[in-house]
Amino acid sequence: MTPEEFRQVGHQLIDWLADYRHRLPTQPVLAQTALGAIRAALPKSPPEQPESFDSLFADLETILQPGLTLWQHPRFFGFFPSNATLASVLGDFLSTGLGVLGLSWQACPALTELEEVVVDWLRQLVGLSDAWSGVIQDTASTSTLVALICARERASQFSLGRGGLQAEPRPLIVYTSEQSHSSVEKAALLAGFGRDNFRLVPHDANYALDPAALQRYLTEDLAAGRQPCAIVATTGSTTTTALDPLEPIADIAHRYSLWLHVDAAMAGSAMLLPECRWMWQGVERADSIVLNPHKWLGVVFDCSIYYIRDPEHLVRVMSTNPSYLQSAVDDQVKNYRDWGIPLGRRFRALKLWCLLRAEGAERLRLRLRRDLDNAQWLAQQVRASPHWKVLAPVVLQTVCVRHAPPGLTDEALDRYTLAWVERLNRSGTDYLTPARLDGRWMARVSIGAELTQRDHVAALWQRMQAVTTESANL
Ligand SMILES: Cc1ncc(COP(=O)(O)O)c(C=O)c1O
Repeated sequence: MTPEEFRQVGHQLIDWLADYRHRLPTQPVLAQTALGAIRAALPKSPPEQPESFDSLFADLETILQPGLTLWQHPRFFGFFPSNATLASVLGDFLSTGLGVLGLSWQACPALTELEEVVVDWLRQLVGLSDAWSGVIQDTASTSTLVALICARERASQFSLGRGGLQAEPRPLIVYTSEQSHSSVEKAALLAGFGRDNFRLVPHDANYALDPAALQRYLTEDLAAGRQPCAIVATTGSTTTTALDPLEPIADIAHRYSLWLHVDAAMAGSAMLLPECRWMWQGVERADSIVLNPHKWLGVVFDCSIYYIRDPEHLVRVMSTNPSYLQSAVDDQVKNYRDWGIPLGRRFRALKLWCLLRAEGAERLRLRLRRDLDNAQWLAQQVRASPHWKVLAPVVLQTVCVRHAPPGLTDEALDRYTLAWVERLNRSGTDYLTPARLDGRWMARVSIGAELTQRDHVAALWQRMQAVTTESANL
């Protein structure tokens, strides 16, 4: 494709996407396609001869489009908000179109230096001190993996330079809440700790990690000759947005010289609001933090920021220095390949830069506050309605609810909950993801799509009441 052809098709593509965004609110939220239908409609083998973009657009419209679940829809209340604001989409296009890679500072100085600037802008916006240095990773899962590898190497005094964990005399232990995200468990397993050395600490009545239980687990491990290594605390857990109490957890981490990593993947965006910062009180005492601008904040996926207090330790753990990557300025620059796992680096900073410049912090704060208010409004409606219950504190934008008509056993209530949520989702008006809490199914309403206004939340609440009435009468 020549630049001229690119210009022409590119305009068409942008037009297509702009139209798609316009019609989005009138489309069903959940993809309506049958399992395997899209695969079946596509050729089994690749084309031998060039095809026109017109035929590609036709397939996009007729085959792929019906298989899209619309995360940007104003009545998308599933999983978590993953806002692809159009300004950040342009930044992502730019990154792709420039086609540069940040293998080292010299491989693309603008890529490295813009990343340094935007992660520092974000640090200021969320109220972190200048003791923190940041780097963009693809996801929170990767950031947490990097954190646990750093923790492992600090606790084992660089076992990777010897026989690795396999040669350590005492097993290293990782602690996290029962409510932490599955990526924490995955990171601990991939970092080589082993399931036997991964502790899921019980939570309190608000689904936050219980520091007394953490202390008990630690004491038991120490008595048995094991070596506590790291704690992963969560600010804004996935199921209920619970807030692990960072101050008492940091007290324990400091007392035993443990690495403290804070997973604020979801709630990190809320820290733009000074009134929310009590939620991670104590965060300055952590060793590392992850927050995901690719969730609620509005940077199109993927953009996760990993903040650390000791970049020298990170670089020592992650660095490799083959001769073809060395340059004369290495001692004066950041080579981000040594700040994480991949060597190649996309110009992700552009999409965060575009969002922050096109929106400005003030507008972002207004949107976040709108969503917090909407969640409180919905919680009030639910609490005031017979047989409906809000199941967990509503501190952010997620409302966990259950409708319990009288006379159902626990098992029947589970079946009923799954059935009405499925009915609602299948209808296409809204999308909710059910989840288990205390072993029982409930509906999670995750508010915060960019287009979601109070009217949309009110319409969802009406649908929830209508669908439960229909389901209860079946
Ligand atoms: C608290 C928390 N941590 C981690 C993750 C994983 O995020 P990512 O997809 O960026 O790995 C999520 C995503 O749902 C989350 O809610």
